[in-house]
Amino acid sequence: KFDIFRNDRSFSSSIGIPKISEKIVKTNSSWPTGNGERQHFDEMVSFRKKEAKSSVVIQVGNPSKSHTLLNKVCSRHGDVKNLFHYTHQDKELLLLELDSEASVKNLLASCSHNNNYKVIPVISPFLWLKATPSESYTAVSSRLPPVIKENISVMDNLLELLSNAKSISEQMTILNDQTRLSEIGHRLRWITCIQIEHMLSGLFPSLQVLPFGSFVNGSARNGCDLDMAISLDGHYGAEIAAPQSPLIFQAKAAVENHRLQTQKHLEIFADLIQNYAIGCSQIQRIMRARVPIIKFHHEFTGIDCDISMSLSGVFMSELLYLYDKIDWRFCPLVTAVRQWAAWAKLTSVTPGNQITNFTLTLMVVFFLQRCTPAILPTLGEMTKMARPQVDTRQAEDINCSFLRDPFVFQLRSKSNSESPEDLFMGFLRFVGSFDFSERSISIITGDSHRKFDSKPLYVQNPLERELNVSRNVTLTELTRLVMEARNALYILETQEDQNTGNNWGLLALPRAKSLQQIKQEMSHSNQVKLNIKDLFCDDYEEEIDDFTETRLSE
Ligand code: GTP
Ligand code: MG
Repeated sequence: KFDIFRNDRSFSSSIGIPKISEKIVKTNSSWPTGNGERQHFDEMVSFRKKEAKSSVVIQVGNPSKSHTLLNKVCSRHGDVKNLFHYTHQDKELLLLELDSEASVKNLLASCSHNNNYKVIPVISPFLWLKATPSESYTAVSSRLPPVIKENISVMDNLLELLSNAKSISEQMTILNDQTRLSEIGHRLRWITCIQIEHMLSGLFPSLQVLPFGSFVNGSARNGCDLDMAISLDGHYGAEIAAPQSPLIFQAKAAVENHRLQTQKHLEIFADLIQNYAIGCSQIQRIMRARVPIIKFHHEFTGIDCDISMSLSGVFMSELLYLYDKIDWRFCPLVTAVRQWAAWAKLTSVTPGNQITNFTLTLMVVFFLQRCTPAILPTLGEMTKMARPQVDTRQAEDINCSFLRDPFVFQLRSKSNSESPEDLFMGFLRFVGSFDFSERSISIITGDSHRKFDSKPLYVQNPLERELNVSRNVTLTELTRLVMEARNALYILETQEDQNTGNNWGLLALPRAKSLQQIKQEMSHSNQVKLNIKDLFCDDYEEEIDDFTETRLSE
């Protein structure tokens, strides 16, 4: 038995609520983020999961002193491929990637529980390196890779970089690159998925935890939440091959009402997470929303997590991931639009009447589908081109089949040579002049249709076509959106010499006028978590009813 202890409940509860200082890290990202060769969503998911299954997080007293001991302990089980250091609150943590899943299995098998009769003996990838007598630090040949640390100075440099850029296009690229979720941010989220998957797979061996949302669709920023969907049978919507064997499992009948069954599963998962998942605290059960979810906070990573059992969000993220792969301008444009909306206070940390980042993203897709020549294909086109079996997916009676190969459309998007700056201005012009009172937005057809309901803004949910993702947006908020878009366009078009003064281009858009104030606003918006899914805007009313009921009973 070695000196690494499994973190257990009694230990983690002493930590309190952490604030991870998750700054930007420019590191050796193991998965290429650009438009490279390895582009398929499924491949990316299995690559990242494998990497996470080969990793552990170890809390240490002093990272530099612990180096030698860790090397001694871990090298008995395999080589350490990557070593990351991060802190939250005053805790020092190391994320170690070993050379294989088997090495991690062996390492975990060698760990013990501290005070083993006083704690629940749960096995997880979150460990603690117990302080040891000094003789344990005897030198061994160092095989540990260099420690990759969080780079805390990047945010400080961001405004300077934006200010010194040569064009608005360059500013957009800088903003996109510098605020992108760090490599360690990625790894900590994947390891959390694996922790939950590992815990629940005792009951359902084929179970898969599938992350979705910005974290996997290419638009993740530092501090973003972790949205997870659970597939009990692990097929997640793919066609099931004809059974090889005439033997089938005896089975318990599911409750006839699918939603009720989902709520039952989630209740049980919430209990398991609450009682047995190390580091998971502040569990909330939001069961009455149309998409029931569990929310919790992870104490060892500082990440806010949501779990649902609806796979449509996963396929929505896959679609946005594909759009990101099709054209390199999509992501910088989405980032600039989200940042502009945050500066103009069009989006908010709390769900309500304002437009969400998700709706804004769909509007950007729509705009890029309508450029001439079109930069992005419509979902309708992609659905028509879906290859049988390879692309066939079905989630809860929703057809999520679309061509999952960006290559065909990459060639076509190149025929449009507009710069990110042209596109940003074009998007603002589109928002400032679109006939929202009569027309709806659909990325299925890339066309605006007559509105189907009387809501001020109608943005069709592309997968659940009868739903409007923006039904929460009031006329006041829509009017503000339009006015802010016109205002931003005016500012950008009438700027005199972009290289005089600091606040030019994108930096002229925030209300705050000094760089210091802009910096404060931006670091605040980086911590922002738009926890919208518990109140999916297209399903808003049921949740509002819940609140009303609560208020009335009060
Ligand atoms: P962040 O702000 O970086 O977390 O962006 P995000 O895209 O992850 O947003 P969020 O965490 O709020 O939502 C995660 C996913 O849930 C989105 O990517 C959508 O697939 C889905 N989603 C969010 N809001 C809505 C909504 O109003 N309606 C529907 N149908 N899906 C939504
Ligand atoms: Mg999210």
